[in-house]
Amino acid sequence: MRVIAIVNQKGGCGKTTTTINLAGCLAADGHQVLVIDLDPQAHSTLGLGIDPENVDENLYDVLAEPGGDQRLNDILVDVEENLDLAPAGIVLSALEQRLASEPIETRAERLRAALAPLDGTYDYVLLDCPPSVGLLTFNALRAASEVIVPLETSQFAIHGVEKLLETIGLLVERIGHDLTVRVLPTLYDGRTRYARETLGKIRERFKDMCFDTVIRSNVKLREAAARGVPIVRYARSANGAIDHSALAVELEALGLLAGDELPNLDEAPREVVVRFRDQQASDVRIAGDFNGWVPDKGVRSLIESEGGTRVWTKILQLPPGRYEYRYVVDGEWREDPDSSETLPTGLARSVLVVR
Ligand SMILES: Nc1ncnc2c1ncn2[C@@H]1O[C@H](COP(=O)(O)OP(=O)(O)OP(=O)(O)O)[C@@H](O)[C@H]1O
Ligand SMILES: [Mg+2]
Repeated sequence: MRVIAIVNQKGGCGKTTTTINLAGCLAADGHQVLVIDLDPQAHSTLGLGIDPENVDENLYDVLAEPGGDQRLNDILVDVEENLDLAPAGIVLSALEQRLASEPIETRAERLRAALAPLDGTYDYVLLDCPPSVGLLTFNALRAASEVIVPLETSQFAIHGVEKLLETIGLLVERIGHDLTVRVLPTLYDGRTRYARETLGKIRERFKDMCFDTVIRSNVKLREAAARGVPIVRYARSANGAIDHSALAVELEALGLLAGDELPNLDEAPREVVVRFRDQQASDVRIAGDFNGWVPDKGVRSLIESEGGTRVWTKILQLPPGRYEYRYVVDGEWREDPDSSETLPTGLARSVLVVR
């Protein structure tokens, strides 16, 4: 379970937009996703089509009560396939006062404790934080293993970000757990010189900490939020959908680099068979990260016929792991139409997982 806090004390930099739309893309990709709305403004809740006034219990009820760790499950709302929400309410703004008499150590542990019983239920938990570094954000940082800091390229203030990173650094020292922090350029309008320069500065300052993906300004993102649906459900070919899908793909890939699905060369290779069907093609090869993207290198091929359609069968020997690949059909690179991980936005990629 990857718990990712979306944090920046600056208002309006795209925290909620990132949360909702990244969640929508990850869910559309088949992952189990939970969004936790930690902002009393309840923008993620609204943006996922839930009226905070109409829910009986919200995150406050979980965090305010001692032993609330049994209860997170009770407040979850099923938003759409693969996507659940822990809704917020304005009452969350009273949490700090309510817990004032508790030592900071236990006050900031509440969300982490509440999430523990759900370990394994979700692939991704996204925490949408309010624009302040108070108790709610501390709870998020304690519960998270990764942090995304959205940075506006239209109104960028490096000073605020340095301060935030300092805060996160202090927290990491105090709680002794590692947080992977990455910054995400948002609200990018490549037509303005200011935005281009700002993006350059962000990349220069943050280097590897910066996502390759940039979220462009796109009015469809506002419209989708107003309608209460993630952009992939509202306008799947809009720039906003393409950018958030790219972010989902990048995040998945980063997880794989750190995770356990990397090829394990100590394990014996398995025989993997993939098939490509096409009536017109006369030459079909396969290339991927398993053969250094050299078409058909190390691959056994068979050509069969299936009711008049030609079927190219490719037999690979691969250790368990996850591989990206493409077909080369008469010299043209193509995605696998059968690949289950081809994204709905057209940002296709073919992925093979060998267990
Ligand atoms: N890439 C984008 N293109 C167009 N509009 C955007 C984009 N990102 C965010 N917005 C709009 O900008 C406003 C602020 O964005 P958002 O609510 O995501 O920021 P936030 O950081 O969550 O704000 P807050 O700090 O108040 O929680 C919203 O109206 C949102 O629809
Ligand atoms: Mg917000």
